[in-house]
Amino acid sequence: MKHEAQPEWCDVGAASELKRLPLQEVKVGRGKLALTCRDGVFGAISGVCNHVGGPLGKGRLEGDYVVCPWHAWKFHCRTGEGEPGYEADRVPAHEVKVENGRVLVAVEARSTRNRLPHAPHPLSQIKPRGTPGGLANDAPLRVVGISTTQMNAENPRESTSEFLLAAALEHAASKGAETRTIRLRELSFRACEGYYSKSSRACTWPCSITQMDANDQLDRVYEAIVGWADVFVIATPIRWGNASSLYYKMAERMNCVQNQITIANRVLMRNKVASFIITGGQDNVQGVAGQLLTFFGELGCAFPPFPFVGHSRGWDAEDMENNVAHVERSESLREGVRGLVDRSLELSRRLIDHPGSQTEMPRGGRKAHSLTPRET
Ligand code: FES
Repeated sequence: MKHEAQPEWCDVGAASELKRLPLQEVKVGRGKLALTCRDGVFGAISGVCNHVGGPLGKGRLEGDYVVCPWHAWKFHCRTGEGEPGYEADRVPAHEVKVENGRVLVAVEARSTRNRLPHAPHPLSQIKPRGTPGGLANDAPLRVVGISTTQMNAENPRESTSEFLLAAALEHAASKGAETRTIRLRELSFRACEGYYSKSSRACTWPCSITQMDANDQLDRVYEAIVGWADVFVIATPIRWGNASSLYYKMAERMNCVQNQITIANRVLMRNKVASFIITGGQDNVQGVAGQLLTFFGELGCAFPPFPFVGHSRGWDAEDMENNVAHVERSESLREGVRGLVDRSLELSRRLIDHPGSQTEMPRGGRKAHSLTPRET
């Protein structure tokens, strides 16, 4: 007589205890599962999300669906199937039974994992200049100006940083460069939600917010900076001794670009040049420049000699209406930004025509690189 192979069961605990939480992570065999209890019925599915491996057992239960704590993909708590419309995107499900007050989970899954192919996000398809499918090296340089000042659209005011940025781009165009302007205030984009703080792997390229939220418009900045442009000119006012809040909102979202270097040794931006325009009522041009230089340096950008143009009215001034007129009349400031653009374009052309030989960045001393103990 032929005997069916009996499943191997793993005792994960007392039912009375496990019933207290709608969702928890339990260890079964060598893996972790997401154990649920809904209306007194237990379910168990793989604890590893199909997306980028988020811990499903640490998410939350929403109706019949386990919601991944990293980017909110959903899987049925007993079948492991994706939410309606995505059923075929499923994680393995396990049999569960209760015997003598103990919850037993089958070690072997009763269904297999299936990942539906997801169309790659356009940002993941960016082809750098000079690579197959990318822009030819001898094509005109491209300059994007990013204005980070905030103002009311219905009742706009003059902005000294944006005024000088416009002068910079006008000059770049006169030198044969293609130009684009991005005003952050005209984009609707969410603040970084700190996925990195859940796990370094939860911070993805393209940014998970960009992938999940079609209404989020920071993709325009990513596309310009990581893809389109050779040179960026970032213009910011000084606000309480710092760059503008919109600048920081953008920079936090751009952490995903830097994070690819940290977690995957993947440098998304090569041979890019950044320069800055920093203007303010009170001072701290140098402090703001230091922040901007460090951040864009850590993204892999190069800087021209004298990489910023700064101007401030000074600590004892409170006449900003005069400041606007002063900047707009100042031929030397305009000359300054033209010089900044010239230096940036020159450097960009040199980097494109003569890229460095280093393709792999040595990681010693870089962020999150642990040092090998020295041999004695
Ligand atoms: S939704 Fe689960 S890892 Fe992204």
